[in-house]
Amino acid sequence: MKKVLVTGATGNVGKYVVDELLKKGERVIAAGPSFKNPADTFSNKVETVYFDFKKPETFQGVLNDVDRVFLMRPPHLGKPEDLYPFIDEMKLSKIKLVSFLSLMGVEKNTIPPHHKIEKYIEDSELPYAHVRPGFFMQNVSGVQSKEIREKSQVFVPAGNSKTSFIDAADIGLAVATLLHDPESYQNTAHTITGSEALDYYQVAQILSEETGKNIKYAKPSYWKYRRYYIKKRRLDKKYVNVTVALYFMTRMGTAKEVTNDFIRLTGRKPRTFKEFVKENRSSFTS
Ligand SMILES: NC(=O)c1ccc[n+]([C@@H]2O[C@H](COP(=O)([O-])OP(=O)(O)OC[C@H]3O[C@@H](n4cnc5c(N)ncnc54)[C@H](OP(=O)(O)O)[C@@H]3O)[C@@H](O)[C@H]2O)c1
Repeated sequence: MKKVLVTGATGNVGKYVVDELLKKGERVIAAGPSFKNPADTFSNKVETVYFDFKKPETFQGVLNDVDRVFLMRPPHLGKPEDLYPFIDEMKLSKIKLVSFLSLMGVEKNTIPPHHKIEKYIEDSELPYAHVRPGFFMQNVSGVQSKEIREKSQVFVPAGNSKTSFIDAADIGLAVATLLHDPESYQNTAHTITGSEALDYYQVAQILSEETGKNIKYAKPSYWKYRRYYIKKRRLDKKYVNVTVALYFMTRMGTAKEVTNDFIRLTGRKPRTFKEFVKENRSSFTS
């Protein structure tokens, strides 16, 4: 078999895609904008290539000896069109499967860029296996962890809504399973969720049980959350606006579906949020 190209290889999901592909004996190329030195290896494990979706000159040669691709949209690339030049490039190669990291519910929701990207891949007649995950548990251990550590608060404007959180490590395993068996999964889509939908009171409860701290769900309004994240956290306004839109959708009930797709693909149960917090306790305490 030829190699698998992994875009976003340093990201939440991509790093697990690399690990899981290696465990399956695949040869992997990690592609990304930080691999400027050709002698770099990613975590001393795989060959790397300098690659930037916005710089078509970096596409040159990246698909040599590659027949499968993990494709992800870096969060700051808001326009679907940003990915089209590389999708066009893939059309020129003999690609057996493109697994695109999409988003739960985009088959019915045309607003997120993932919807158009999925359609563009399909229209280009590349064999595809879309992966549509729910909210990552890494959002809680990542961007949300500052308030959890420093104020013992879960500070997201999700109201009373529920979310079927999934561990990015499980998404990586699902993607690797698809890419390892391209013939079986051509032109398929998989909604990957955790096994339970939790509201943020339950999230705070689990965090309290596992850290021994008294963590509360602050349940801020959209306005309070937006102001705090822009003025105090100094996060990019565009990014914060996208997250407000996502929490709006979550409140409409779009994040709570629980599916069997992960079990069907991998034969394993997805990690629970409680197990995740136990394994990542230091993200919430130190
Ligand atoms: N968070 C969620 O709950 C959730 C749920 C469903 C779907 N998603 C989707 O998942 C995707 C994000 O995945 P993630 O969290 O794994 O990503 P991430 O951790 O934010 O990592 C972004 C990756 O993109 C690379 N990158 C940045 N700019 C690039 C460019 N111009 N060209 C090529 N690569 C570039 C980065 O490389 P460097 O490290 O070298 O900069 C990094 O590897 C988004 O499309 C998001 O909508 C997220």
